[in-house]
Amino acid sequence: MTTQDLLDEIAPDVARVENAIERVAAAPAGYVQKLVEHVRGFGGKRLRPAMVLLSGRAVDPSRTGDVHARLGAVVELIHTATLVHDDILDGALIRRGRETLHRMEGHEIAVLLGDFLLASAYAEAASLSDRMAAEYLAHVTRSVCQGEMLQVHERGNLDLAEGTYLEIIEKKTAILYAASCHVGAYYAGGSDGQVKALAAYGCALGMAFQVIDDVLDLVGDEAVVGKSLGTDLERRKMTLPLIHFLRNGPSGDVAAVRAALESGRGREEAPMIRAAVLRSGSVDAARARAERFVADGLAGLSVIPASPARGTLERIAEYVLARKK
Ligand code: IPE
Ligand code: IPE
Ligand code: MG
Ligand code: MG
Repeated sequence: MTTQDLLDEIAPDVARVENAIERVAAAPAGYVQKLVEHVRGFGGKRLRPAMVLLSGRAVDPSRTGDVHARLGAVVELIHTATLVHDDILDGALIRRGRETLHRMEGHEIAVLLGDFLLASAYAEAASLSDRMAAEYLAHVTRSVCQGEMLQVHERGNLDLAEGTYLEIIEKKTAILYAASCHVGAYYAGGSDGQVKALAAYGCALGMAFQVIDDVLDLVGDEAVVGKSLGTDLERRKMTLPLIHFLRNGPSGDVAAVRAALESGRGREEAPMIRAAVLRSGSVDAARARAERFVADGLAGLSVIPASPARGTLERIAEYVLARKK
C-alpha cells in the first residue's frame, strides 16, 4: 500500500492542495523560488493535507472545498518548514530523496527559508474569513517548537522517562496531525463532538506515526525512506525502542550500548546497537505501542458516521503501522 493508492479517491483535492502550496509559497526572487521548489519537491507523502481533506469529507463532503485545499497547503507548509529546521538540528544530509537545504546552502539560508515558509503559511491562514485556523495553527507551531527544544535539551539523557518521550512526540508531531483533522472537520461545519473526535483520531495517529518513524530511524532502509537515518543514535536522541531496550534488555547488551552512546560512538556502533535492540524484542515492543495508539484512535472514530472518507482515514492508520517510508 502506498499513499498514492490511499489518496486516489481524493486525487483532485490533493492536486488543488499542490496548486495552493505553489501559490502560497511562491517567491518573487528567482533564487528563493528555486529553494522553495527544492523543498516542496516530490516524495513528500502529503499525509497532513490528506487528513484535512478527509476529516472535512467525513463530516460533510458538500462543504469540503477551496478552503480545505488552502488549509491543506497551510499545514503542509508548516510541516515542511519544521523539516527544514529539523534537518539542521539532526545534521541530516538527505530529505525526500534530495540533498537537505542546509547542506546545499548552509545553515543561515535554511533557517531563513524555514521562517519564510512559516510566514507564508500564516499569511494564508490569516486570509481566511474565519480566523480559527490562524489562531489555532499558531499554537500548534509553538507546540512543535517546544517539542523540538525539549528534545534537544534531553539529548544524551540515556535515562529519559518514557512519559517524557511521549510528551515530546505529542508536542512535535501528534499535535499537527490532530490540528489537521480539527481544522478539516471545523471548516466543514462539524459539531464540537465531531471536531473533537477527529482531532483525537489525528493525535493518536500522529503518536503512532512518530513511534514508527523512530523505529525506521533505527532499522529502516535509507534508500526506501528517502531521508537520512541513524541520526537519532548519532545525536543521542532517546526514542521508544531504545528507551525500552535500556530498561528491559539483557544486562550485557545494555552495558555495551550504553558505553557506545556515552562515548559518542552511536554512529559507528549503529550495527551493533541495531542488532542488540532487535534481538531484545524492543523494536517489536515499540511497534506494539504504535498499534495500541492506532487501536485507541480507531475506537474513538466510531462516533463519525461510516463513509468513504472515514474508510480512508481508517486505512491511513494501517498504512502508518506498515509504512516503510
Ligand atoms: C517526517 O514526516 C517528520 C516526522 C514527523 C517524523 P513525514 O514522514 O510525513 O515527511 P514527508 O512529508 O512525507 O516527507
Ligand atoms: C522531527 O522528528 C519531527 C518534526 C516535528 C520536524 P524526526 O527528527 O524524527 O523527523 P525526521 O526523521 O527527521 O523526518
Ligand atoms: Mg530529524
Ligand atoms: Mg525520525
